[in-house]
Amino acid sequence: MAAADRIESLIARMTIDEKVGQLGVFADMVRPFAPDVNPEANVHNAGEVLQQVREGRVGSLFNGVGAELGRKIQKVAIEESRLGIPVILAADVIHGMRTVFPIPLGEAASFEPALAERTARATAIEATAAGLHWTYAPAVDIARDQRWGRGAEGAGEDVVLGAAFAAARVRGFQGEDPTAHDSLVATPKHFAAYGAVAAGMEYSSVDIAPQTLRDVHLPPFKAAFDAGALSVMSSFNDINGVPASANHELLTGILRGEWKFAGPVVSDYTADMELIAHGYAADERDATKKAFLAGLDLSMQSGFYAAHLPSLVESGEVPMEWLDQSVRRMLELKQRIGLFDDPYRSLDPAREADATHIPAHDMLSREAARRSVVLLKNHGGVLPLKTSEQKIALIGPFVQDRENIEGCWTLFGDKARYVTLESGVRAAIGDPGALAVVAGCGLEEALEGGIDAAVAAAQAADVVVLALGEPQRFSGEAQSRTEITLPPAQQALAEAVAATGKPMVVLLRNGRALALSGAVRDAAAIVVTWYLGTQTGHGVADVLFGHYNPSGRLPISFPQVSGQQPYFYNHLRTGRPELPSMTEYKARWRELPNEPLYPFGHGLSYTTFEYGAPQLSSAALGWDDTLTITTHITNTGGVAGEEVVQLYLHDRVASRVRPVRELKGFRKILLAPGESAEVVFTLDRRVLAFTNPNGEFAAEPGLFDLWVCASAKSGEPVQFELRGE
Ligand code: BGC
Repeated sequence: MAAADRIESLIARMTIDEKVGQLGVFADMVRPFAPDVNPEANVHNAGEVLQQVREGRVGSLFNGVGAELGRKIQKVAIEESRLGIPVILAADVIHGMRTVFPIPLGEAASFEPALAERTARATAIEATAAGLHWTYAPAVDIARDQRWGRGAEGAGEDVVLGAAFAAARVRGFQGEDPTAHDSLVATPKHFAAYGAVAAGMEYSSVDIAPQTLRDVHLPPFKAAFDAGALSVMSSFNDINGVPASANHELLTGILRGEWKFAGPVVSDYTADMELIAHGYAADERDATKKAFLAGLDLSMQSGFYAAHLPSLVESGEVPMEWLDQSVRRMLELKQRIGLFDDPYRSLDPAREADATHIPAHDMLSREAARRSVVLLKNHGGVLPLKTSEQKIALIGPFVQDRENIEGCWTLFGDKARYVTLESGVRAAIGDPGALAVVAGCGLEEALEGGIDAAVAAAQAADVVVLALGEPQRFSGEAQSRTEITLPPAQQALAEAVAATGKPMVVLLRNGRALALSGAVRDAAAIVVTWYLGTQTGHGVADVLFGHYNPSGRLPISFPQVSGQQPYFYNHLRTGRPELPSMTEYKARWRELPNEPLYPFGHGLSYTTFEYGAPQLSSAALGWDDTLTITTHITNTGGVAGEEVVQLYLHDRVASRVRPVRELKGFRKILLAPGESAEVVFTLDRRVLAFTNPNGEFAAEPGLFDLWVCASAKSGEPVQFELRGE
């Protein structure tokens, strides 16, 4: 039977309970993992879940793993349920399964979407081997406020970078053929504007201008759909007073009307239930009706759809055709990934056994780790360290730590394989006697005698490597902070060690930008190492000892102090810019200029690069033409290195105030010492477009500034004109 006929014939035969069964997603008690992930989950016992599968009341289960048990569940669905509709098995697999890759924010620092595509592919291979079909990833939320903890799961503050990584991750998860046994359905989330919560406070409200929603927060979703994403997850927040999970304009107007997206929308966990707490729905039934009629196809975990949709359909408040349409979307998803033809795809225990440890993924984890590291500062060339002839004091609470390697939202990582910082450094150096290792303090607390031991080790060494940062639970869901600083116990350790006068390299472990101060800010070298995953120790050592020349760049601005939040580089122009003359009545803080400590796009290498002036193919861009920008870049240092060449634009006069600069393209190039390359960007008027006061997405003729440079704060602009039609 043709695919569409099969689905229509099923819908025609389904009871209303079977239909609503397809629209619920439940944490899975059949498999042992679920309670660890969602301890408060309103789930039933294994027998009950299997009985519900048998009765055709369960279309999907999530956050359990294991091919064998998945197979058992599927067998009940196929052989014992009336219509034999397969279940789809989902989980939050965000940046690795057994092998853990850098947190997505860290990986975005590579400025290599192709790398993210490879790590997502590896993740999909391991996840599907463990009996999963569907992941709730990638998170594509733009995070302009570093107080918000979930920035760690996305690609940072910039829309072009975010869109490129969103698309790459979707391609990686799903692969080329969605029916392949190693294809994992992607779910861009959280739709939408989840990262724009007021004051960076998780689950808070989003008061956002329509053009900011359109031009900043929606494009990564559009990019994910253009890359083929098969489902999407709504967000918890409201948008201008209407919860996203019951937002008709968003879930139906934009998603279906404008973008023609055909896949199912799943609620973020109990977002439908939360309409009551929002004060947007009076009770369960009202919440169900509002969420469903707005366009939310699937209800996760609350059970509201199963409980209330049948009576809403019977009373005529929800048309049966609408119910059928959501069921159709879910069945089409199952069809698209081949579950009707091969219900046991991705449920092969033999493949799971073979995939418990794939050595090539360790190599990829190491490569992704070192490519994600950002060298912020390297005063006096203190880095790279020498593998011999130097006594190194490796100090800090992260040095031997195994609990803060994987970063947030890693549920299934193979902890036995995690490489600590100490192991990585030991493996890199020749003489074990050249290394002293001291914790100095705990993650948040002083250790008795810790500082004395650290100071003694520093005094006996030639160079100190101090590993500091946020405990990993400081970032991720529900981890908003008011002060994005290091814990005081760690700062105290840094001050004491710095007082020895030894050259100090600070390694930061972080899931957001940090406001650095005192001895940390003044350290000779500062290296951002995020949470790098399985191969953390090796990846960091590769950079420390120059086996890999760092090439990461900041995907988020590092502010000077927490109070600057939200700080992002592409803010709008003000009528009273603070620079160049710093008088009182300017857009400025009393205490300091509103500049970052390290801007978006910043990152050093062990070599240096020189940029020529960008050459434009024409001083004017015709309305239907293309402009070519060619820039000569030379490696002027002594070692091979990669540079991230960045293209920024600024619209001088427009019908709406425009950002001071916006990233429009980037290229990563590798140059041998002394080597030059021409980096070519092309652009047309679509790149210059924005949402104008009439709500249209259009470019406007006039003058533009253009930079080809090494960060959002570097380079000299050249001008060009966009001519009218
Ligand atoms: C998170 C989602 C996640 C879901 C299911 C929610 O709390 O916001 O990102 O996919 O739980 O675990």
